[in-house]
This record gives sequence, structure tokens and C-alpha cells, in this order.
Amino acid sequence: MQETLLIILAYCLGSIPTSVWVSRAFFNIDIRDYGSGNAGATNTFRVLGPRWGTFVMICDVLKGFLAVKLFLLLPPFHTEIAELNMQLALGVAAVLGHIFPIWADFKGGKGVATLFGLVIAISPWTALACSGVFLLVLYLTRFVSLSSILASIAFPIFILVIFNVENHVYRVFAVAVASLVILTHQKNISRIIKGGESKVPIFKHRDR
Ligand code: G3P
Repeated sequence: MQETLLIILAYCLGSIPTSVWVSRAFFNIDIRDYGSGNAGATNTFRVLGPRWGTFVMICDVLKGFLAVKLFLLLPPFHTEIAELNMQLALGVAAVLGHIFPIWADFKGGKGVATLFGLVIAISPWTALACSGVFLLVLYLTRFVSLSSILASIAFPIFILVIFNVENHVYRVFAVAVASLVILTHQKNISRIIKGGESKVPIFKHRDR
């Protein structure tokens, strides 16, 4: 019962539509009507500038991180595996909240920042390794979407091959994450193929 309530709380936390609320409160617009139409940090960066983009990114990462940490409110678990599974359930609830927010007509973002917060909370070294992939791809292409997709694909590879994680649920979760991110980035993938995907204005020296 307590677990179910916390999972609902994690979903509500993930549902906080940071970019939508920021765009409405400070710019009197709905971020979903501008740029890529996505309610996420990248689109906020694109439409409202780097400061607000960074703010939204931090908040969205925190949602995943704090949702996982809600497990601390529960009595101690009997096994590490049970504890990890509960953390994953809380984190996934927050990610689903971010993608389908109850506070914003169920039209949210693509889940990457909140997923990242979840992974930081559960396995910080894996999060660091995935950040490396993200930054490398971003440096080479300046596509946030492609960086997110490749970092997510690298996630199960790190879990299965490099960090050799044995928990079966975590392994399935890692593969599911990569699939989910590919799924939420379908429009980006088709824009990249057609040459219509916008680049972020960083690492610009590569165009000189
Ligand atoms: O995490 C979202 C990012 O990968 C792409 O966002 O606005 O370019 O669709 P956007």
C-alpha cells in the first residue's frame, strides 16, 4: 500500500511540466506551440534561451533523482534486489509522468533528462559513462536528439557488457530505456534523415 502511494507520488512529481510552466509563467506562451513542440529542456533552450533551458534541464533531472530517493521513506528492504526494484519502479513512474504529465494534458517531453536523473540516483558511474557518449555525439553533430538516442543505446551496453550488472530487472530496464528513447524520438529520427533537424548553437567552431 505504502509502495503504491509512493509510486503515485513519483508519477505526480515526474508530471511537473517544468518547461510548460516556465514558458507560461514568464513568457505567456506554451512551449509546446514553438520550436520542436517538445516540452523539454532542449526546446526550452532553443525557444527561451540557455538560462531557462539549463533551469528546465536541472529540474527535469531532479524529478527522476528525487523520485528514486522516495524509497528512503519506506522501511528497510530485506534484500538489495528488492530495494533496487523499488527504486526502478519509482524512477519509471517519474519518467512516465514526465512523458504523460497529469498536470499538462498528458503531453510532456521525451523523458531523457528525467531518465538521466534516475540513472544518476541508481548508478552514478553508468550515468557518467552515458554522459560521455552524449557529449561526444553532441560535440560531433550538435544534435541533442541523436546524442540522447546514442547515449540511451549505450546504457544497456554499459550495464550488460562493461559494468556486468547481474540484476535481471535492471538489465530489462536498460534495454527498455533504449527502446523508449528511440520511440519518443521518432520525429527527430525522421527529421535527421530528411536533414530538417535543428542543431544546438554550441560547439559551433566545428562549422568554421
Ligand atoms: O530529450 C529531448 C531531445 O533529445 C530532443 O528535443 O526539442 O529537439 O525534439 P527536441
